[in-house]
Amino acid sequence: MIRKRLIQSVSESKKYIAANVLLQWIALLANIATMAAITACLAGLFAGGANLSWAALVAVGAVTVRFLCTVGASRMAYLSSKTVKRVLRARIYEKLLRLGAPYAEQVKTSEIVQVAVEGVDQLETYFGAYLPQFFYAMLAPLTLFAVVCFIHVPSAVVLLVCVPLIPIAIAAVQTWAKKLLSKYWGQYTALGDTFLENLQGLTTLKIYQADAYKNAEMNAEAEKFRKITMKVLTMQLNSITIMDLIAYGGAALGMIVAVTQYAAGHMSLAGCLLILLLSADFFLPMRQLGSFFHIAMNGMAASDKIFHLLDLPEAEPKTAPCPADCTIVCSGLRFSYTPEREILHGVDMVFPKGSFTAIVGESGCGKSTVASILMGRCRTYAGSVTLGGTALCDIAENSLLQNLTYVSHQSYLFEGTVRENLRMGNPAASDAVLWAVLERVRLAGFLRSENGLETQLLERAANLSGGQRQRLALARALLHNSPVYIFDEATSNIDVESEDDILDEIYRLAETKTVILIAHRLASVTGADQIYVLENGAIAESGSHTALLRRHGVYARLWETQQRLENFGKEAV
Ligand SMILES: Nc1ncnc2c1ncn2[C@@H]1O[C@H](COP(=O)(O)OP(=O)(O)OP(=O)(O)O)[C@@H](O)[C@H]1O
Ligand SMILES: [Mg+2]
Repeated sequence: MIRKRLIQSVSESKKYIAANVLLQWIALLANIATMAAITACLAGLFAGGANLSWAALVAVGAVTVRFLCTVGASRMAYLSSKTVKRVLRARIYEKLLRLGAPYAEQVKTSEIVQVAVEGVDQLETYFGAYLPQFFYAMLAPLTLFAVVCFIHVPSAVVLLVCVPLIPIAIAAVQTWAKKLLSKYWGQYTALGDTFLENLQGLTTLKIYQADAYKNAEMNAEAEKFRKITMKVLTMQLNSITIMDLIAYGGAALGMIVAVTQYAAGHMSLAGCLLILLLSADFFLPMRQLGSFFHIAMNGMAASDKIFHLLDLPEAEPKTAPCPADCTIVCSGLRFSYTPEREILHGVDMVFPKGSFTAIVGESGCGKSTVASILMGRCRTYAGSVTLGGTALCDIAENSLLQNLTYVSHQSYLFEGTVRENLRMGNPAASDAVLWAVLERVRLAGFLRSENGLETQLLERAANLSGGQRQRLALARALLHNSPVYIFDEATSNIDVESEDDILDEIYRLAETKTVILIAHRLASVTGADQIYVLENGAIAESGSHTALLRRHGVYARLWETQQRLENFGKEAV
């Protein structure tokens, strides 16, 4: 019923929970005082000599104390749930930073979002309401027992004995509830996953008119989720009904005992009245705990997901700096995303410092996989990859990312101004430097006609054309000014003019930096010092463009096919 690890991981909230319990307990004492004043007053009236003024004074004082304690307890509940949210979200965030770029190897992005947002929210009730209630629900009946013992011991015993029936009922449903809730969470995250994916791909779904099919698929999943939600609610309502029966049944039993004892002359009228008024209070805290329990169970199921994320294995923190001589050597490089299929089968490649190397090959042969390995995103490779003689797996991620810049055909541009996006490449760059680099990628003219560096971009720069987006991504990469650049199809799917401009800039960059250019179009790599031709995850050939043409191998065949296609239109004219 209590998750020790959860409490230990947010030990800061313990003091708020303790204060919450204490305030609730003082409120209970105040309540007992009010009831005692009322009963004494009623008994006095009955006997014909009541002192109303002091009873009223006690009652008003006790009600004030109770009010203040209740306000204080809600404040403590708020503080403990706030602390939990802050601490756990910070821990999830730090964990992600420690997992680093290869986090996606172990966990889906949508799962992280759900766990960090909804999952952590679910713990609000656990810390803010359930835990304080757990302790208070034990303290309250014992306190009332002590008070009622002064009036009539048998009634106190009957009331106290009935109280544990509520936790017994809770425990009885717990195993079943746990299974149900874990299923509920599984379907909740599955539905969230599909929803996020379909929302992101909505345009594509519309284009292929597959939205109706996806709609039906999501409806089916939502229906499953509805059913499991209804099951959870039914389970909760049923167990609350059982708890109500026990709570009010137990209170009634206590009242019957008290009244019969009064009728038999074993108890005073005031004592009997006080037991009548307090007997429900024996059970209410436990019953309240029962209703919080179901929400808390949700939180506990969510905490399993949170701990699963926090427990993901982390690589030893790497500390070696990236050497200044960043010659990259891959030897016997093997890699698999899944155990059943090896993607790279013992690849040997060398990218000397300051060289211009290209990797070509048919789609799916493993070019981007090589780039991902070099960028430290795929760590489970076999064989060796070294940078300036230091093993890639020993180099600190920060240092690696400062030295290697990756530009793909879908580099991410953020919502915000052009200046903000460019400054990610170099936060210290002045406006003059930003404009100079924009001139280099031939985007300055367009931006001047807009709002200059203040031009607002939508998410993923949706308000720019494909070519403009790619020029801006290149400008940001140039500002990064790292010794190594990897361009992965950086000129795919854009207009010819943009492609030529970007290639010009890549060739210029290759004069001073180590450049690795991954491309489909062989015409764009002819100037490279060395070209590696990958075929099904292995190097088929390598050499310069002219040397490869002379070999009449895979490269030459690909070249001829592409040239024929490119010249097709021209010959026809
Ligand atoms: N995250 C992944 N999980 C599982 N398999 C993957 C993953 N990414 C790529 N693959 C598989 O690895 C193989 C190589 O993919 P890679 O992206 O390296 O190819 P590529 O040569 O860059 O292709 P393209 O020219 O189309 O970009 C493909 O067969 C692909 O199915
Ligand atoms: Mg690729």
